[in-house]
Amino acid sequence: MREINLTDTVAFKALASHFAEAKDWQMRMLFSRQPNRFDRFSAEAAGLLLDYSKNRIDDTTMRLLLDLARERGVERKRDAMFAGEKINLTEHRAVLHTALRMPRTARLVVDGQDVIPEVHAVLDHIKAFTDRVRTGNWLGATGRAITDIVNIGIGGSDLGPEMACRALRPFAHPRLTMHFVANVDGHDLDAALAKVNPETTLFIIASKTFTTRETMMNARSAREWFLGHRNEADLPKHFVAVSTNTQAVGEFGIDPANMFPFWDWVGGRYSIWSSIGLPLALAIGFDGFSEFLGGGHAMDQHFRTAPLERNMPVIMGMIGVWYRNFFGTTSLSIAPYHQDLSQFPAYLQQLEMESNGKRVAIDGRPLSLESCPVVWGNVGTNGQHAYFQLLHLGTDIVPVDFIAALKPMHDLSGHHTVLLANCFAQSEAFMRGKNADEVRAELHAQRLAESEIEALLPHKVFPGNRPSNTILMDELAPATLGALIALYEHKVFVQGVVWGINSFDQWGVELGKVLAKNIEPELTGMPCPEAHDSSTNGLIARAKAALSE
Ligand code: F6P
Repeated sequence: MREINLTDTVAFKALASHFAEAKDWQMRMLFSRQPNRFDRFSAEAAGLLLDYSKNRIDDTTMRLLLDLARERGVERKRDAMFAGEKINLTEHRAVLHTALRMPRTARLVVDGQDVIPEVHAVLDHIKAFTDRVRTGNWLGATGRAITDIVNIGIGGSDLGPEMACRALRPFAHPRLTMHFVANVDGHDLDAALAKVNPETTLFIIASKTFTTRETMMNARSAREWFLGHRNEADLPKHFVAVSTNTQAVGEFGIDPANMFPFWDWVGGRYSIWSSIGLPLALAIGFDGFSEFLGGGHAMDQHFRTAPLERNMPVIMGMIGVWYRNFFGTTSLSIAPYHQDLSQFPAYLQQLEMESNGKRVAIDGRPLSLESCPVVWGNVGTNGQHAYFQLLHLGTDIVPVDFIAALKPMHDLSGHHTVLLANCFAQSEAFMRGKNADEVRAELHAQRLAESEIEALLPHKVFPGNRPSNTILMDELAPATLGALIALYEHKVFVQGVVWGINSFDQWGVELGKVLAKNIEPELTGMPCPEAHDSSTNGLIARAKAALSE
């Protein structure tokens, strides 16, 4: 079916004429005109508070953005996703990560089969296994309890579990140390193996397809390393797999009883809720993992049922569209003011950029407008001393998402107050800025000469009017982390619908994979199967010479 160009919609045209006026608004002025902006432009759901008042929006902007969401069919397409319709058209698949967090009592029929009993059968398996490892009843080959878990996977089979294990570090079992190996660069696996003892280590080979070059190479090297210390008969006690590919898991030599399956209707970057979450379940226990799923489910319920006016994923998604397609912003910075969320920006990079980094619409025609911005960021306050200079005073406007927990998980006195003060001060500074009169007054108070004041002035003026959202939670716990991830998943969905793209395929990773396969044998001296350009030939020649030394 032919997609209607975003620019041809009634709501988009209305927004375009609204933008002609709104583009010059100053947020300082919006706040003084509407003192209740915080109450008006904040929403709450599933343990999260979203303050979106520090954006270049007013009531009309929000009304028009929600009109656009409706006209693009966000509600209809959301319901189709939850119902298990095959909305991933290029792969002919349903998109049902939301089924993974549904309660046992739910029912969801896909291709004539209720998928919920299967989901819970796998969860039961995860519970039994993780209980045994955590209580020390799962013994390694020499009768010792497991102390180290090495997850070998990449992309969605790595970023989610690694991010979540770090985020929920205070809830983790004290005996278990988690390691994550993703890169085919041998330094990654080598560094992990140097820290572990084969007698007390459990390897999880995590790959949806069980064909990914990086993961399979690391898995084979890990097995070789293990067999260098122990023998083949010991493997079942030290190697388990998470995959949709039973046959390949069996061929690799992993006991099918130690395989945790999931389904093709779970996209890699949406798979933390599936068996791919096994490292998280091992770290925080099955009860904690259930709370995590519960948090995601609570956000699903909110997304499904809340009116668009109070619907957090819809609001965040539409404000993102406002900046990307009207203000022309090119990136989104994620600023978690929580050290344990240090991997969250990297996690969101895959979620947002692999989902919505598309240049054609679902019908294959080129998009009429830009889609996903570049997503990047780092924890606060560290980012303040690195790149916040550009966010405050650079030539580009970069919307920022601040994320913070109100209560810390440590007892160190004073730290959390300073952390939160910085978080709130940054969003205030982005919004208010500091005008020339304010700078002048400050410099006069320092008794600087008039000539010096005028010379310094342009460097010290903050234009302000730089937008941000702030997401607050009481504490970073399994349920709030689940809700936070689901919030961004649904935000990405909303934006994909508005841009008219398929957010659930990832053809962009294919070309590089194929070309690497061609180059690999050439580096080891095999004849060149195809001519490359002079640059690639030059690089290959250099590497060949170095590798053969
Ligand atoms: O990078 C492409 C990709 O397919 C991701 O979408 C996925 O998360 C990752 O590779 C890993 O894939 P697999 O789990 O099949 O090894």
